Amino acid sequence: EIPVVVAIDGPAGSGKSSVSKAVARRLGYGFLDTGAAYRALAWHVQASGIDTDDAASVVASLASFDVRIGTDPAGYAVHVGDVDVTTAIRDPEISAVVSRVARVPEVRTHLIELFRASMALESRPGIVVEGRDITTVVAPDAPVRILLTASPEVRAARRSAELVGSATTSVGDALRARDEADSKVVEFMTAADGVTTVDSTELDFDQTVDAVIAVIGNIQ
Ligand code: C5P
Repeated sequence: EIPVVVAIDGPAGSGKSSVSKAVARRLGYGFLDTGAAYRALAWHVQASGIDTDDAASVVASLASFDVRIGTDPAGYAVHVGDVDVTTAIRDPEISAVVSRVARVPEVRTHLIELFRASMALESRPGIVVEGRDITTVVAPDAPVRILLTASPEVRAARRSAELVGSATTSVGDALRARDEADSKVVEFMTAADGVTTVDSTELDFDQTVDAVIAVIGNIQ
């Protein structure tokens, strides 16, 4: 049985991960955070002493990149080899360099294969997959495709509330820089044809989860 794929894209700080995870829990679906794989690779590259700007060495490091991303929304964890990197990959230092590894074409091809394999292995009735190019490249045929957005101000405010001790302006600058870098590689700031936009600027967390579930309900 092939699981139903719910594809969700959106910019940095849009709440994709937490909203997608909550949606998956409510529906009894799996959850795949593709950004976590790019972050885990940035972590692996740095742990191997490789410069994130050295694309050839980044590509070579894929051979030793043993990543495992859980798809259980209740017990979500990311491992590289034996190391649990679930928390480490959220570090602002990783956020600052992740776009440099994500822009390398061989990296994208490699990780997209991993994502598709993990989607095909999902034993729950469906899987919520979130990232930047899920609605357009990874799963363009998914029956449900959503772009989750919020104004830049609201995204910066929400993210700085998560990162204790960070000023909203510097968090906003970091989000903008990352979105600009990522936008050169994949388009996720506007919805592709057939993709439903959910704007959470005026919604709280539970209302956003409800809005996403409503889109899924309308299509299925
Ligand atoms: O979603 P998150 O902010 O954790 O993603 C981290 C980074 O991974 C993004 O800034 C982007 O560089 C990369 N990414 C990507 N394609 C995806 C998901 C994430 O290039 N589908």
